[in-house]
Amino acid sequence: MCGIVGYIGDKVAAKLIMDGLKRLEYRGYDSSGIAVIENGRLETIRAVGKIKNLESLISDEQYSGTSGIGHIRWATHGKPSEENAHPHTDCSGKIVVVHNGIIENYKQLKHDLVAEGHKFKSETDTEVIVHLIEKYYRKDLVAAVRQATSLLKGAYALAVLSINNPDTVIGARMDAPLVAGIGENEYFLASDIPALLSYTKKFVYLEDGDIIELKKSGYKIYAADGSNAERKTHIIAWDSLMAEKSGYKHFMLKEIFEQQRTIEDTFRGRIDYDDISEFFNELSIDPETVRDIGRISIIACGTSYYAGLIGKFWFETLAGIHAEAEIGSEFRYRDFIIDDRTLLIAISQSGETADTIAPLREGKKRGARTLAICNVMGSTITRDAAGTLYTRCGPEIGVASTKAFTGQITSLFLLAVYFGIVRGKLTKENAAGLIDSLIQIPKDISMILNRENEIISIAKKFFKKTNFLFLGRGLNYPIAMEGALKLKEISYIHAEGYPAGEMKHGPIALIDENLPVVCIATKDKVYEKVLSNIEEVKAREGIVIAIATDGDERIKEKADYVFYVPNTDALLSPLLNIVPLQLFAYHIGVLRGCDVDQPRNLAKSVTVE
Ligand code: AGP
Repeated sequence: MCGIVGYIGDKVAAKLIMDGLKRLEYRGYDSSGIAVIENGRLETIRAVGKIKNLESLISDEQYSGTSGIGHIRWATHGKPSEENAHPHTDCSGKIVVVHNGIIENYKQLKHDLVAEGHKFKSETDTEVIVHLIEKYYRKDLVAAVRQATSLLKGAYALAVLSINNPDTVIGARMDAPLVAGIGENEYFLASDIPALLSYTKKFVYLEDGDIIELKKSGYKIYAADGSNAERKTHIIAWDSLMAEKSGYKHFMLKEIFEQQRTIEDTFRGRIDYDDISEFFNELSIDPETVRDIGRISIIACGTSYYAGLIGKFWFETLAGIHAEAEIGSEFRYRDFIIDDRTLLIAISQSGETADTIAPLREGKKRGARTLAICNVMGSTITRDAAGTLYTRCGPEIGVASTKAFTGQITSLFLLAVYFGIVRGKLTKENAAGLIDSLIQIPKDISMILNRENEIISIAKKFFKKTNFLFLGRGLNYPIAMEGALKLKEISYIHAEGYPAGEMKHGPIALIDENLPVVCIATKDKVYEKVLSNIEEVKAREGIVIAIATDGDERIKEKADYVFYVPNTDALLSPLLNIVPLQLFAYHIGVLRGCDVDQPRNLAKSVTVE
């Protein structure tokens, strides 16, 4: 997730764009850059790292130009570096582009453009866009942008500036947010409202396929077919802090709701099971190596460890590979068995967790092949591992991990499916069915999020409780563990996750009329077993809150409260079942007046032992 800003009017563009980028820093901080038209020249300034590094290159009086574009980056293709920082320019240096999104077919486009003589300077997917605009540019910038974007597959929100059209700033969007700010003889573009709230309260939300042409005298919007489009003007009354959270009360809630997009961003461009070489190239691992894997050891901590537990199931079921999930702080001090046929997978949102880094390095030293699943490009773990499968969730600000978790399990699912195909455990037909179910998941999550009020009403009944038990079986045992962790880390209520089948080996002694028991009881091969566990709880006066599959009437006879999720392939149920538990923990935390985004005693990245 990156942030873009554009401006044309009578104010100093550089200053206004920098101010806007600073207000979008929650969208990314790997690098940043601006381009302004200054005395008939196109000036581009870029810097790696946080926006203050760019700010140190721009003194107030240096630039007086009144049109420009800017970008703050969260790297998805190409490491954080100056040459990969936006804006990107064409061969002539007369056109610049900033982009938020993922261009799925950029490799092919780049290949064709290089063959036509275009010179590339970066590793990014974005750079193909500015060379395509250059290729089709014949004085009409809107037409060139339309032709260029018609060739793009994937998601983009763009701002375009050209020295040949100094009175114009162009915006375009497909599957990535872009708003236009409406001022008095001045017009703005931004990925998100916070960037512009100091300058205007009037916004136009562009729609997929729209191209907007901004001039000091006014703006025009063209729909995908080139026709003029009218879009509603909205007056936004948020203050800037509210706006950084897009109107949500907390970053955690915003990030729970972002999952319908971040899961799609994570699998976007990686689901061509007919041609999986592209997928493996990204991982710096070849199919021959995958066929030679003897076992997989997954190392992680906290929420990432629970993602690893789910990955273990999938590697066994879909790829026929023995897999173990290991808690980093334990694994690092064990005499663990590693050989050159072991694949070590380190999972980490931050890429900086000390308890995960240490065993990864030790395992690598002992000859294991290594892979990382991580959300932060260029972080330590991604540099230590031989290859990285990046989750594409954008910065996760809330300390309690939500969207990164579902990004991790989406990545693990893709890995297990492709390992299964390469090892002959999965036919392409099986893979197609699983991928089709995965593609449906964002819509299913959207349906769950629309039922948020049902979770709130259950949370209101239980927020004063002092203990919870979470039960699940098979793939949903790790979800029970993660649901318990979410609750305890943001509401400070003691909560334990347990394999449902283990209850009779001890925890059943806890059950009484005061203990709420959350049971994950969606339809799968152990559904009947979970129903029996629910009956055991009810027989001891326990209170049961069940997560169940749409249409399941039997569960109503057994559970005190039921929250329904859409029906999906049982293998993918963890991606859905965790969402109500995230919302449940969040709303209980809020009802208890806890600091939900920054819970006591916790840090977003545990970089020490
Ligand atoms: C999750 O909500 C917690 N913040 C914590 O358990 C976290 O998952 C753990 O510290 C691992 O962090 P990482 O994914 O950045 O390695």
